Amino acid sequence: MQLRGWVRTVRAQKDLSFIEVNDGSSLSGIQAVVNGDVPGREHLDAGDITTGAAVLIEGTVVESPGGKQAVEVAVESIKLIGGADASTFPLQKKRHTLEYLRGIAHLRPRTNTIGAVTRVRNQLAYATHTFFQQHGFQYVNTPIVTASDCEGAGEQFQVTTLINGIDGPSVASAQSNVASEADIAAAKAAAAEQGVVVKTLKDAKKEGEATKEEVDEAVAELLALKAKAESLENSSAAAAGGDIPRDAAGAVDYGKDFFGKPSYLTVSGQLNAEIYACAMRDVYTFGPTFRAENSNTSRHLAEFWMVEPELAFANLQDDMDCAEAYLKHCLTHVLEHCDEDLEFFEKNISKDNLRERLRGVATSDFARITYTEAVDHVLKAKKKFEFPVEWGCDLQSEHERYLTEEVFKNRPVIVRDYPKAVKAFYMRENDDGKTVAAMDVLVPKVGELMGGSQREERLDVLERRIEEVGLEKESYWWYLDLRRYGSVPHAGFGLGFERLVQYVTGVENIRDVIPFPRYPGSAEF
Ligand code: 4AD
Ligand code: MG
Repeated sequence: MQLRGWVRTVRAQKDLSFIEVNDGSSLSGIQAVVNGDVPGREHLDAGDITTGAAVLIEGTVVESPGGKQAVEVAVESIKLIGGADASTFPLQKKRHTLEYLRGIAHLRPRTNTIGAVTRVRNQLAYATHTFFQQHGFQYVNTPIVTASDCEGAGEQFQVTTLINGIDGPSVASAQSNVASEADIAAAKAAAAEQGVVVKTLKDAKKEGEATKEEVDEAVAELLALKAKAESLENSSAAAAGGDIPRDAAGAVDYGKDFFGKPSYLTVSGQLNAEIYACAMRDVYTFGPTFRAENSNTSRHLAEFWMVEPELAFANLQDDMDCAEAYLKHCLTHVLEHCDEDLEFFEKNISKDNLRERLRGVATSDFARITYTEAVDHVLKAKKKFEFPVEWGCDLQSEHERYLTEEVFKNRPVIVRDYPKAVKAFYMRENDDGKTVAAMDVLVPKVGELMGGSQREERLDVLERRIEEVGLEKESYWWYLDLRRYGSVPHAGFGLGFERLVQYVTGVENIRDVIPFPRYPGSAEF
């Protein structure tokens, strides 16, 4: 067999050497044993096979005499593919902190923890697709650039080409050196005049009345004048490019921007998913979403992945049932396919009965309460919270965790029927006029894992809601059309994919469960 991978550790002895190789396919890697004089052994003797080096090993899988592993590879030949200078390679055998590893995100997938996170994340993505596909949902790709704000929380990143090149070198000197229209016209006129001179001289040369030297001199002069005119024109164009176009009132003229109107990175694919649900019935999206919230918490990223199913002919009850079934499917799947990695997390990260806990969640009912009941629980708590609670305010993460961890003893809790003031405009208003058919799924340690709702399918109510929250009705014309033509009750939710990975692995900080985390002040790698 052939083994291609990266060396984790080497123990080189005179005739017997042990090389631990890992190729990312599993936590444990494999031990390769070099016995005697196999081809390539000179690399070992020279000390070139070090931690971090890439190798190609050929050999036979044999039962391992050592107690630590069942099998090992008896090496027949070893090739050094890419060396790794041991004096500078940043990953050593010792345990590194996750914080240190964040600074070397290009090398951290070669560690046990990040390797295990990557495999579990992959299986959760697989489970997501299988769950929805098996239940007849169609996978829809929704846009990343959008002109609408789904959540209305003012957390969008703007997308614009208006400031492209605004800090370029030509602009720094632009104020003093910009050529006026008149300068440019004069330079062009001078070049044109010289063009006439050149033509006259050329004609004269044919008649023997001018020399070749005279013509060459005039041509050189012409080229110089043309170059000058061009450079004046360029400097003026660059300066114009550095100015953000403004309308008569002095506001930015987005008509001149790339998309002709203010555009943003999406915070959610929901509004677009609704369009497809109102044509194809059940659909889901699974893509990157972006939020410019300046929160440096262990549960927020500026770029994160969201799974968003949208169910047609469905109400809040159907939505909650779907959310619960989907989460249970994911847990059952990783328990079946990631046992070695979960055992690793249990021992080194969560330091509790992780797998037993997940198995329990996968096989028992979630708690379901109303927002009003949730507030009562928090008000009755003996615990002191940083943020006080009263009916009408949003639940904070500390309250959410109290509910799921303490009131319901580590069971997921679905809280529904929130006050409309704390939720988005599209959620269906309940008959009480005060609450909306919203639901959040809360889990221990993470808090809010999913957020969803039944959507407002009644045109008149939706129009009123859009006005109430101060949005512009005109820009939601297509969203309103869905309520005009063949409107149906529909519902959906969004699951923060990184929070799911956190929940399943017990990894404390969300920055360690996405390959390349983006957060305030950091877009490295
Ligand atoms: O509750 P949210 O804001 O809901 C929506 O965006 C809806 N449009 C979803 C829908 O109904 N289709 O976000 C959904 C989930 C949250 O429950 C949370 O798990 C995650 O997305 N989330 C974040 N994850 C990481 N970093 C952030 N900054 C997040 N903001 C939300
Ligand atoms: Mg939410």
